[in-house]
Amino acid sequence: MKVVPATVANITAAVKEILAGNLVVMPTETVYGLACDATNPDAVKKIFAAKKRPSDNPLILHISSLEQLQAITTSFDARAKKLADRFWPGPLTLVLRKHPDLNSLVTGGLDTVAVRMPAHPVALSLIKRVGRPLAAPSANPFMGLSPTRVEHLDRRLGRFISLALDGGPSRVGVESAVIDCTEPSVRILRPGSLSRGEIQAALGEPLARPPRSLVRKSPGMYTRHYAPKATVVLAKRLRPDQAGLTFMKPGNPNQIKMPDDARAYMASLYDAMYRLDKLGVDTIVVQSPPSKPEWEAVHDRLAKASALK
Ligand code: TXA
Ligand code: MG
Repeated sequence: MKVVPATVANITAAVKEILAGNLVVMPTETVYGLACDATNPDAVKKIFAAKKRPSDNPLILHISSLEQLQAITTSFDARAKKLADRFWPGPLTLVLRKHPDLNSLVTGGLDTVAVRMPAHPVALSLIKRVGRPLAAPSANPFMGLSPTRVEHLDRRLGRFISLALDGGPSRVGVESAVIDCTEPSVRILRPGSLSRGEIQAALGEPLARPPRSLVRKSPGMYTRHYAPKATVVLAKRLRPDQAGLTFMKPGNPNQIKMPDDARAYMASLYDAMYRLDKLGVDTIVVQSPPSKPEWEAVHDRLAKASALK
């Protein structure tokens, strides 16, 4: 895998790779994405093969302008528009009705499609210069932690990657909020850095409770996911001999002190877990974060990381 700084010349090289049907790692403000031309079925197949991702697990289409929605969806209604107006470009993915001509490999056979306009300037420039939507899941093997720095990229996944653009650490650090706009009431399928309150305020109507079976509505929502190699357990506090993430003064070199602020915590969570994996610890003990609304995405990811294998 060739990792290069995201300069104008290297973005040009990445555009060429994508137009040739190859896979490129692109920085986004949430996490790094494994990107390809969403309109090229062979390229989309390469993504599923590289990640060992089941073919019914749909990908997110990344756009750089609202005009690109025309070929993607038939249902960009007033509710979706309000959310896009407020949060795009940004860490928000909208699930909309799929355009009948859009290749259904990318949507895992569903009649809905997930779309996001990322805020990272490198991602926006890459999409704009390719001139087509880019399909991009997080750039990690299936079930693993999403990379928030190029140093996190998996070597085996690297065999499938033509070029990786280094755009620095991802500012947000957890994957985008996924919002379903295809039902009578809008609902959050995957919480992200934007809080429920912020989303509700932009929408001007209450969000529905999450569906009972998220797995059926969104095939990519597994119980175990976003997991490091080590076993993750949650605890009230860490013992001095344990490895993990703490809010207190670290008791040993394998304890990482985490920020008290939810956004800052999100931005460093995956990097902290990658670092402990690299040290080879068997178990990562995570001191439970506060039960406040702004911590929803952190609780979601920790619950998935600690679910049994
Ligand atoms: O922040 C992000 O969203 C990152 C960056 C790279 O943009 N991407 C990302 O993609 O996290 P991925 O593939 O790792 O996660 C996409 C999630 C999956 O949980 C999938 O089930 C859900 O979006 N999804 C995609 N299409 C959907 C659809 N039509 N209906 C419901 N859920 C969908
Ligand atoms: Mg992912």
